[in-house]
This record gives sequence, structure tokens and C-alpha cells, in this order.
Amino acid sequence: MIEVKSLTMRYGNFVALSNVSFQAREREILGLLGPNGAGKTTAMRILTTYLYPTSGTAKIDNDDILENPLAVRRRIGYLPETAPLYPDMQTEEYLTFVACARGLNGSKLLERLRWVREACGIESIWKHSISEISKGFRQRVGLAQALIHDPKVLILDEPTTGLDPLQIIDIRKLIKELAKEKTIIFSTHILQEVEAIADRIVIINEGVVVSQGTQQELANEARARGETKEDLSLEDIFIDLLRPRKRKESFTRNP
Ligand SMILES: Nc1ncnc2c1ncn2[C@@H]1O[C@H](COP(=O)(O)OP(=O)(O)O)[C@@H](O)[C@H]1O
Ligand SMILES: [Mg+2]
Repeated sequence: MIEVKSLTMRYGNFVALSNVSFQAREREILGLLGPNGAGKTTAMRILTTYLYPTSGTAKIDNDDILENPLAVRRRIGYLPETAPLYPDMQTEEYLTFVACARGLNGSKLLERLRWVREACGIESIWKHSISEISKGFRQRVGLAQALIHDPKVLILDEPTTGLDPLQIIDIRKLIKELAKEKTIIFSTHILQEVEAIADRIVIINEGVVVSQGTQQELANEARARGETKEDLSLEDIFIDLLRPRKRKESFTRNP
């Protein structure tokens, strides 16, 4: 469904991504896990065709990001690191605006507005100005704009950052529910996040994919590298993979 092939991205002389490849299958939740600065946002910006890579490419549902960027954009919903909201608009007004930009109109438009209002739990702030709503609601409205056109693929950049524990649980539940019919790639620097919701994990560090697979596959790989601990947690695997490059204390469970 999503195939990322040898992506390299340079900002001037700085190599933000180096030969990054991974795949996501249909209706899979893929967690892109890595410390701050690993290159997660860069990878997502390339997948959403916001940035063009220095080399390599990716296919989303058979459409190539370089050859057919408009088809790719139609197919994906994107929640950037900071939700792209207009604070002066009311929630309803903003989502109507996004829906129209996505080409929806008439009864389909009303139907999708109703759907995101309920699915994202934003009924109570529907008529509120976005400048007045809490961070948790802003994130939900951000998710609603990513979902308004019912895309097959969702790309979510750190979707739970800045939310309180209850809000995090709510968003995780929603992401899991959405994965029944969508393919989802989300990024995070928080281990529990991938443990809680990802079917498969791509661990990225300093622009390089250091491991990928299910948690079980990552554990098997770590054992093959000589890790002897009985119950290998994702944290153990992460530390083992990143230790030569980064200091252990950068990756505590509760950053
Ligand atoms: N527009 C840019 N120009 C130069 N360097 C950038 C730019 N965007 C990101 N970087 C650098 O690329 C690296 C990866 O950044 P990013 O993709 O945002 O990582 P992450 O999302 O994993 O925190 C960082 O070192 C960042 O400073
Ligand atoms: Mg980022």
C-alpha cells in the first residue's frame, strides 16, 4: 500500500535522511519511532509531497509521489506536527472550508462534516472559535481536517504530543478504530505510543532506519545481535539499537 524506496534528503550539506526504505500494508498502523531530529517529519513531508527528496521515491497506493503528486495528495489525510488551523474561524467554518478545498459539496459535504464531528468528538466545540479551544480539541480538529475527505491513507506527525493522558488514550482509540479501514503511518519519539498502537515499527535514528518489523521481530533481531534478557521490552531494544549513536538517558520512558 505504501512503499518507501531509498529516500535520501539533504538540507544543504546536512543529510536528514539516508537511503530510507520501508513499507506499510493496507489497514496497518505503522509507527515511525525515533528521537527528536531523527528525520521523522522530513520523511512525512516527503510522503505527503510537501517536500521533494534529494533521491529515492515512494508509492502510495501505486501512485508515485514524484510522478503523480496530486493523486497522492487526494489519497492522503495529513496531520502535520502543528495542526494547520485558522484561529479566527469557528470549528464548523474551518472544517467546511477544508472540505470545500478538498472538492466536497452538497449532501456529501454535510455527511462528511457530520461524520468527523462525531468520530473526532468535537460536537461541544463545533460553534466555538478555534482560538478559544484547548490543545486537545485543537488536535482533534486537526485530525478532523485530515479525515474530512475519507482518505485511504492517514499520515499523522506526533499526533499525541502535548496532550494529557486521557486525551492520549482517546486519540489512540480513535487511531485504532480508523485503522479498520485505513492505512496509518504515525510518528512519535515516545516508546509507549508505538507499543500501544503500532502493528509494525520502523525505528529511525539520525536519518537511518536502524530496524523495522513487529515488536516480536525486533526482539528476535536484538537476540540475534546478542541481547540475552528474557523479557525484551521495546525500550530494551530501542536502547540496544541506539546506544552506539546516542546516550542512553535521552530515551527515558517518561520524557
Ligand atoms: N528545512 C530544514 N533545513 C535544514 N535542516 C532541517 C530542515 N528541516 C529539518 N532539518 C534538520 O533535519 C533533521 C531531521 O529533522 P526532522 O525531520 O524534523 O526530525 P524529527 O521529526 O524526527 O524530529 C534535524 O536535524 C533538523 O534540524
Ligand atoms: Mg518531527
